[in-house]
Amino acid sequence: MSNDPNQKRKLADDARDLMALPREVHVDALEKKWIFVALGLMGLFVTIILYTGFAKHVHPPGEMETIDSARLHLSAEFAEDRLGVATQPDGRIKVTLVAARYGFYPREIRIPAGQPITFRVASADVLHGIHVPMTNMATMVVPGYVSTLTTTFPKPGEYPMLCNEYCGMGHDHMWSKVTVVSQESWRAGNPQSAGR
Ligand code: CUA
Repeated sequence: MSNDPNQKRKLADDARDLMALPREVHVDALEKKWIFVALGLMGLFVTIILYTGFAKHVHPPGEMETIDSARLHLSAEFAEDRLGVATQPDGRIKVTLVAARYGFYPREIRIPAGQPITFRVASADVLHGIHVPMTNMATMVVPGYVSTLTTTFPKPGEYPMLCNEYCGMGHDHMWSKVTVVSQESWRAGNPQSAGR
């Protein structure tokens, strides 16, 4: 190794630069901007999650509602004479259905277009899926659980309500009929909801 003082000094400088490196990481101005954009987006998403959770009560399906599928006919809500379309005291419309091999009961329902309809569905036997094509009405119906969903049918018409989970030999024939009527025909046919 040489004893040249210049080279020694250079080596010492290099070593100092190396030690100083972690404290002097250069962040480009553009990079800094994107770090703030990413942090801002994360903050926005967390705010949205907290807002929908606390203010709008939108939760992941953790609060699952269970039911004894073998005793549906004895339950307060899913007994045979309580199934079908019902207007609630507050004017909202609730449809209670039992999915069982091979149909959704009652086999025909009539509901109005353009207003939110809440479906409550329970299976009496195995796994079924309920689906109304060309709409966003679709959910699994798992035995032992109540499936609840609220949707609005924008257009009057007749729609099939199909099973989309394989449930046995008759799966292909498992369907029921939904008749969606205009608000006018609904009020004419359901005088109890005419005052709204
Ligand atoms: Cu029920 Cu397939």
